[in-house]
Amino acid sequence: MQIKPLKIGNITLHNNVFCAPLAGYTNYAFRRLCKGYGAGLCYSEMVSAKGLKYGSENTQQLLFTDEQEGLAAAQIFGSEPDVLRAACEHEKLQPFPIVDINMGCPVPKIYKNGEGSALLDNPALAEKIVKECVKSGKIITVKMRIGLQESKLITAEFAKRMAGAGASLITVHGRTKDKVYAGEVNYKEIAAAKRAVDIPVIANGGVFSDEDAQRLLLETGADGVMVARAALFDPQIFCDLTGGARESKLEMFNKQTAWTKQTCDERFATVFLRKMAAFYLKGERGAAAYKDRLFRAQTTDEVSAIAKEMWGQK
Ligand SMILES: Cc1cc2nc3c(=O)[nH]c(=O)nc-3n(C[C@H](O)[C@H](O)[C@H](O)COP(=O)(O)O)c2cc1C
Repeated sequence: MQIKPLKIGNITLHNNVFCAPLAGYTNYAFRRLCKGYGAGLCYSEMVSAKGLKYGSENTQQLLFTDEQEGLAAAQIFGSEPDVLRAACEHEKLQPFPIVDINMGCPVPKIYKNGEGSALLDNPALAEKIVKECVKSGKIITVKMRIGLQESKLITAEFAKRMAGAGASLITVHGRTKDKVYAGEVNYKEIAAAKRAVDIPVIANGGVFSDEDAQRLLLETGADGVMVARAALFDPQIFCDLTGGARESKLEMFNKQTAWTKQTCDERFATVFLRKMAAFYLKGERGAAAYKDRLFRAQTTDEVSAIAKEMWGQK
């Protein structure tokens, strides 16, 4: 795809290929991995603004970053403008100069609280949230969908209002809330958002290869792409998109293991790394038997030993 630097607020990213926020996955280790493979910007998984306020989120795991990761972005969700602004100003978010507001999450618990994708149906509140968060001094970005359902697509109008409220970049996931993660990506709606605003628009949805990324850019005229599920199975997709060299799965997994252990306790790290190793096995011969063994592993050392067996010769 066409790689180019991208300016968001006063920050210039070295490229326009983003790693999406993925709840349960885009922790420090995963983001650092994707960044190393070429992603220009990686978002944390979504963090509850209220949770931050009441100290109830496991923020050590969710919001750890350091110099090795470099520039990092956080994503928060909520519905109360003052609570979201307080989250932006919270010390835990201090290392993140870019903060994204989630306006796309379809999960019922979130939606019913008026958060995530529910904001698509309440542009006045969404606007207030952005205006309030901008006052924190953070660079505010918005991740939205094209609407709640196909009969009511709101992309261009909504994007315009978010830009008017002070957002520095908008990511458009080209599906409605009702479609969750399935179905065609609506290129036309993303293109309409791009035409409606003069801040960068990032297109998201269905990028599983460099060809997919090229098509998405061509059809939408967007300034860059965001990759989500493909990165879960293959973080080195960012090498393909940015022209970097791949490394072996074992090298990749060893890095991820070391960095995960840096921020997560042994129990969490074991469960997380088992899950990741199983993703990376997708399409490989003998995957079922290895997965079976992985899910019985009780320590990170056991997971590492199985990974060495799986990928040591490749
Ligand atoms: C497991 C999972 C977790 C996700 N978590 C988040 C999240 O925390 N915040 C968010 O804005 N989107 C989240 N998404 C949506 C993705 O960021 C992305 O918009 C969506 O998967 C479409 O991109 P794709 O077709 O490349 O997968 C999640 C998606 C998946 C599959």
